[in-house]
Amino acid sequence: MTPYIGKPINRVDGVAKVTGKAKYAAEYKAADLAHGWVISSSIAKGKVTRIDAEAALQLPGVIQVFSHENRPSLAWFDMSYKDQDAPPGSPFRPLRDATVKYSGQPVALVVAETLELARYAASLIRIEYEEEEHETALEHNLHRAREPKSGVATLLKPPPPKPRGDFEKDFRAAAVQVSGTYVHSAEHHNPMEMFATTVVYEKNNKLTIYDKTQGAPNSQLYVSQVFGIPFKDVRVISPYVGGGFGAGLRPQYQLFLAVLAARELKRSIRVSLTRQQMFTFGHRPACVQQVSLGASAEGKLEAIRHDAVGETSQFEDYTEIVVNWAGMLYPAQNVTLTYNLVPLDVYTPIDMRAPGGVTGLSALECAIDELAYKAGLDPVEFRLKNYTERDMNEDLPYSSKELRECFRQGAERFGWANRTPEPRSMRNGHTLVGWGMATGIWESMHMPARAEAVLTVNGKLRVSSATADIGTGTYTIMTQIAADTLGMPIEDVIFRLGDTDMPLAPIQGGSWTAATVGSAVKVACEDLGKKLFKMAQKMKQSPFADVKLDEIVFENAHIRLKADPSVAVSLLDIVGTNGGRAVSETSTSLPNMLEQRKYARAVHSAVFVEVEVDEDFGTVRVTRAVTAVAGGRILNPKTARSQIIGGMVWGISKGLEEESVMDHQFGRFMNHSLAEYHVPVNADIQDLDVIFVEETDTIVNPLGVKGLGEIGIVGMPAAIANAVFHATGKRIRSLPITLDKLL
Ligand code: MOS
Repeated sequence: MTPYIGKPINRVDGVAKVTGKAKYAAEYKAADLAHGWVISSSIAKGKVTRIDAEAALQLPGVIQVFSHENRPSLAWFDMSYKDQDAPPGSPFRPLRDATVKYSGQPVALVVAETLELARYAASLIRIEYEEEEHETALEHNLHRAREPKSGVATLLKPPPPKPRGDFEKDFRAAAVQVSGTYVHSAEHHNPMEMFATTVVYEKNNKLTIYDKTQGAPNSQLYVSQVFGIPFKDVRVISPYVGGGFGAGLRPQYQLFLAVLAARELKRSIRVSLTRQQMFTFGHRPACVQQVSLGASAEGKLEAIRHDAVGETSQFEDYTEIVVNWAGMLYPAQNVTLTYNLVPLDVYTPIDMRAPGGVTGLSALECAIDELAYKAGLDPVEFRLKNYTERDMNEDLPYSSKELRECFRQGAERFGWANRTPEPRSMRNGHTLVGWGMATGIWESMHMPARAEAVLTVNGKLRVSSATADIGTGTYTIMTQIAADTLGMPIEDVIFRLGDTDMPLAPIQGGSWTAATVGSAVKVACEDLGKKLFKMAQKMKQSPFADVKLDEIVFENAHIRLKADPSVAVSLLDIVGTNGGRAVSETSTSLPNMLEQRKYARAVHSAVFVEVEVDEDFGTVRVTRAVTAVAGGRILNPKTARSQIIGGMVWGISKGLEEESVMDHQFGRFMNHSLAEYHVPVNADIQDLDVIFVEETDTIVNPLGVKGLGEIGIVGMPAAIANAVFHATGKRIRSLPITLDKLL
């Protein structure tokens, strides 16, 4: 019975969020709370030679100024514990020594009785530096590109597959060829909620930490390892996150600084970053890509070469999957894919929604469009002609792949058949109209996780797991899964998350949470159900004494006989036999790797976009877009649609607006505010439509869901660029497509 799964249930956390009841990391109070203010380095590379904090320290109410000069010694400064999402290399350790590795690096923390005082005191502190030459421009350093180092984190981000066939030979012989260089700058995370940590210093030296994170257990592990504190003395709580998108996959430096200060001062403290400082802890890396494609005269794609060079820091090798997608999407026989890094004097890049995927597809899917034009084929027809049921990198069949249906339904909804293929052939009065499309793909991952299910003495179901809800709808879909699995009315089910006292779950990322935590919730509720059934069998005159588990159902808070539903025992009566105690079960869900590894597993999309381009001004507006997604089972069409719409909006942002502009003279990101770092406003977003095509998958995970967090953005920028070409006849290979590029 699934009365809730598949229904557009409203967000169970919606009211708390819109009424302000939902509290975020910087909103928790503590008696005697002190406030920290971070001082960021004004140089990109060199050394701090002098910190003059005297004037600041003389102000009444200023408690301490922490820097490398007076920080406590921690074993961590000389060894190298890493967080769950750390790339290979040596993690950044704030206040370790006088070295400055990037602009904006935290070099001191001012602690005062109030936030205003801490901020004012920070303005009085004089810091002198010895500057060294820095290198921050990716395009000037491409000659230094080298292969990434590998490490544990690379398990989730495998390097490109070995070349197959002979690209060079086949490309030279191809009847139709395209070749182009694609670039995009760095982009920064700008969720509504800034990174913040409130550390509550308890009497017994225990720490209760409210942290903005995509995984409370990751922050707990970090604090425990870095400061050498036992797990039991560090509790991390993070029930609400005001937008995550990848930046919270790693503990950020305000967590370190807040814990350091709290332990030294033995009092509670809050450290919150400013909007400007949100540009100092990792970004989507700038990337330069070269794509060359060769096809037969009939439009059969035969040769693919995709080379990408991304930036990283001097101390860690951040990697993402940029080029592998070509081999997953197209069945060409001659394929060469390469991925290299250039270390620069910047902070280590960090995952940002569909990391690598949206980067790579933004180039590949434009090149495919160009090739389709050269081959004289409609872009949809070209993709159907070059369709594959197998991931050619691994030579494995897809566990399911309804991408064909995405093309068909998406094209129909959009009205693609009415398109005239020639560029500049469609107009709306004065403006040029362009229709473009692209394919999207993202891996469907499944991780181990745990959950607890409790039936309370009042007959309510309480389920928990230490996962996060970064705005994805996790609270809601987990409540639905729990309610359906144990046959409970949804009003009697509560799901809680974001607390390290709860059973362990991985960081929320990679679009894996629905599959991962959903499976754990399902198993925990099933196990609780079995326990309750056994208890029911032991009840006096139990109608189930000789009944087997597969002969009963859980329905409407009762266990019922399938053959005769009037034979039933209520869950409330069952828990009533437990001596006034709740009944609980904690379970682990592990991916069935033996079965899963026989298949490639991915979510797919087809994206159709209409743009209007004003030729006089070079302005581009996305007037409508349709995304058709093959995402397996859809748990909640409302939250699912919201995920895809959010991804599409970000795709418009990446395609047309978003860009971190660096002044290489200073090695500093200059547009570090929402006034100058452009993201779409309401007026930029017009008609967005989402289709979920039917797709059944029994392999990906027990729920058959594929994850929707990232797929919404993946194909958008390419579809926009292709629409701009259709409108104007101009191939813009650098994102975002700002008006200067069209004039
Ligand atoms: Mo996502 S970039 O895995 O939070």
